[in-house]
Parts: sequence; C-alpha cells; structure tokens
Amino acid sequence: MAHHQVNGKIVVTTPTGRVGSRVLRLLLQAGARPTVLLRDPDKLDAATRERVDLVRGDQGDVEAVLEATRGADRLFWVDPPTPDEDPIAGHARMGANAARAVQENEIAHTVFLSSVGAEKRHGVGEIDGLARTEQALDATGANVLHLRCGYFFTNLLMDADSLREGVLSTTWPLDSAIPWVDPRDIGDVAAVRLLAGNWSGSVVQAVHGPKDLSFSQVAKVLGRALGRPVRAERVSDDQVRAALRSAGSSQGQVEGVVGMAAGMRENFVPEQERGVLTTTPTTLAAWAHAHLLPAL
Ligand SMILES: NC(=O)c1ccc[n+]([C@@H]2O[C@H](COP(=O)([O-])OP(=O)(O)OC[C@H]3O[C@@H](n4cnc5c(N)ncnc54)[C@H](OP(=O)(O)O)[C@@H]3O)[C@@H](O)[C@H]2O)c1
Repeated sequence: MAHHQVNGKIVVTTPTGRVGSRVLRLLLQAGARPTVLLRDPDKLDAATRERVDLVRGDQGDVEAVLEATRGADRLFWVDPPTPDEDPIAGHARMGANAARAVQENEIAHTVFLSSVGAEKRHGVGEIDGLARTEQALDATGANVLHLRCGYFFTNLLMDADSLREGVLSTTWPLDSAIPWVDPRDIGDVAAVRLLAGNWSGSVVQAVHGPKDLSFSQVAKVLGRALGRPVRAERVSDDQVRAALRSAGSSQGQVEGVVGMAAGMRENFVPEQERGVLTTTPTTLAAWAHAHLLPAL
C-alpha cells in the first residue's frame, strides 16, 4: 500500500504517555507517519515502531527537540513530568524548548496539553508551569492550540492504596464539582485538531470529560464500580504536605501539588464553559470498571 504523508510532518512528544499514546495511535490510523521524540524507543511496540520516524532524546535537551521538529508542520507538545526540584521552573524549561523549536523550525500548528487553571497564570501550583509554556508558545506568534484539560481519571490510580481501604481523600471541598476527564479522550481531541490544522493564532479549547463531579459524587461512582463502599474524606494541605515529604518530594514539588487544588478550590470559575466542544464521552464509571478495578 502506498503511503502518503498526511498533512506534512507531524511530531508527537510523549508517545508512550497516556495522552500521547492515544494521539499517536489515531494518527497512524489516519494514515500518517508521525515522527516521535522519546527517550527509549524500546518502549514502543514493534508494530508501532515500524510505522513512525524515531528521534531518541529528552525533551529537556533543546538540540533533540530541534532535531525532531526540523521541517515539521505540526507538533503535539506535552510538558513531561519534570524531575526538577521546582516543577514550575521545570515546566517552563521544557516549554521554552518547545517555543524555540516552533520559532526556529517555523512549525505552523502546535497543540499543547495544558490544564484548567492555566488561565490564572499564577497561584495554581504546578499548573503555573503549564501557563508559562502557554505564554512561551503564544510569544512565537505561530498557530497554537492550548487544550485546557480537567482532572484526569488516571490520577485515581495514585490513590490505589487508600481506595483499597475504601477512602478517597482530597483537599477539595467534598461537594464542589470540577471537570474529570479520561486522558484517552484528550488524545482524541488532540489528534483531530492536529489533523485538521485549521485554526490561526492562539486558541484555547477545554477538554472537560462527560460531566463535572464533586469528590462525594466520585466516591459514589467508584463504590458502585468497585463493588465496595468508598467514602470521600477531606484532608488538610498540611496532611498532604507531610505525606509527600515522607515519600521524598522536594519542597517545590510538594507546593506544586498542594498549590493546584489550593489555587482553584475557592471562587474559581474556569474561563472556558462546558459545551459541545469541551465535553468528551468516557464516563468515570466505565473507566473505573476497565482500569481501576483491575488495579486494586
Ligand atoms: N493529571 C492531571 O490531572 C492533568 C491535568 C491537566 C494536564 N496535565 C498534564 O498532562 C501532562 C502529562 O500527560 P500524560 O498523563 O499523558 O503523561 P504520562 O502518562 O504521565 O506520561 C509521561 C510521558 O512523558 C515522557 N517523559 C517523561 N520525562 C521525559 C523527558 N524528560 N523527555 C521526554 N519524554 C519524557 C514519558 O516517557 P518514558 O516512556 O520515557 O517514561 C511518558 O511518555 C503533564 O504535562 C501534566 O501537567 C495533567
């Protein structure tokens, strides 16, 4: 079968990540041959490896980012989790590499995985770093699309131990509803936007999942999916700080996590309203049944 490039050269970062892996699969299914930037090509299955152009490298290494994106028309950029003691600076460092690549390689369209809360710019913990990346990409003057995503269902996998005991703990007020989303559905939105490449300037699109849920509602949904009672329990920022510190997190990393909820749980209204363009289909119940139940 003859292969044609779909919409020029498309570069995908974090192709082994939750969102990036979905983006990559859909681009392959659309008939594209994407270029992927990743640290360890062996983490891709052999059938996928054959269908992509590989650049091995770290996103913190600007030369690797520039090499992967040379001649690119489209870029899917994720700020990867940073090992930096200050995660905000870490994200900003990664974002600066993305912006430099967009500028030097004249990449026409970039989709960036951002977060609800980035519109505040400051005071939302680690999300401040995503805001810095949004700003760096905006400053290039290229066409950039920021996907401001809700709270990933997959964050619940980090709470597996506590959920096994029937407790969902959070620093959010238990009855305040926020958007919860399956990262796979974010990959769907990112892939169609990359393929369409039909926007100009800087555009924000939110990805909100099927509905806003409070932690009390989430606990009920999980209880049904897991077949055992789960109760939501409010904990203080200091309790979370102590737990993260004892798990070895640096001061900056601790504040990066605590600051996300602290910056959004009082009087915060997301800039993007829920609507047809932001609502994605996978329900928490379906996700929990498929992914959380087997993990517990
Ligand atoms: N969790 C949430 O609720 C939420 C909400 C909104 C936005 N976000 C944002 O979503 C992003 C994470 O997306 P995700 O969950 O899809 O990712 P993920 O599943 O955690 O995967 C991380 C990916 O980053 C790669 N990676 C890590 N460090 C790297 C480096 N230095 N250079 C190159 N690649 C590197 C990993 O590759 P390897 O295979 O090499 O490890 C992996 O592919 C973050 O920017 C986060 O801020 C999260």
